[in-house]
Amino acid sequence: MGGKLIVFEGVEGCGKTSQMLLCGEWLQSLGVSVVATREPGGTELGLHLRRLLLEKVENKPFGPAQGKPVAEVTELLLYAADRSQHVEQELKPNLAAGKYILCDRYTDSTIAYQGYGRGLNMSLINQLNNIATGGLESDLTIWLDVDVEIGLTRKRGSEPTLDRIEQETIAFHRRVQQGYTELAASYPERIVRVDGSLSKEAVQQAIQEILRGHLKGLP
Ligand code: TMP
Repeated sequence: MGGKLIVFEGVEGCGKTSQMLLCGEWLQSLGVSVVATREPGGTELGLHLRRLLLEKVENKPFGPAQGKPVAEVTELLLYAADRSQHVEQELKPNLAAGKYILCDRYTDSTIAYQGYGRGLNMSLINQLNNIATGGLESDLTIWLDVDVEIGLTRKRGSEPTLDRIEQETIAFHRRVQQGYTELAASYPERIVRVDGSLSKEAVQQAIQEILRGHLKGLP
């Protein structure tokens, strides 16, 4: 397999989506064959799952939508289902074809959000991540580290309404951030931190330097 799996991670509003797109343009300008994708929602099935997972919580006074519409373990299983489909349908074939895949979120999101954020059992999460990926790990994960409040303020400024997970408490988002901090410390070879509070240009520059350092095959 000549391809590479490069993942972008971070809390809400960390800037990963726009940095990933800039990175894709840069790689293409070097003549690298790039595929951009995301979780959840990198496949047709995944798009349905994404909608189910992220729909806003409406404050309905009665009916089945009252309260929390997705139970925590259900949420974990839906992210795993999305990932399993994504790995089979998109990631494996594109890696086999020698593509550089830029992926907006992957297994570390489940550890950070469902593990640290929700407090679900870590060994269950690791098992599900293994089942869903068949052991496929990222070659490199870029963690865009921004302060949780700054990220959420950016989100509120750029989107008219927040989705179900963005609507979670600030304490939840802080636990997610703690998750990324601990993951980066545990896997320094695979996860590289970038200061996401820098300017867009400086962040992109840092990402390009990291890719140059880690991916020896770049033209
Ligand atoms: P985003 O694509 O805009 O970042 O939205 C995806 C949301 O889903 C985000 O709030 C993080 C959340 N998420 C999880 O909670 N667990 C996961 O495994 C993944 C991939 C995403």
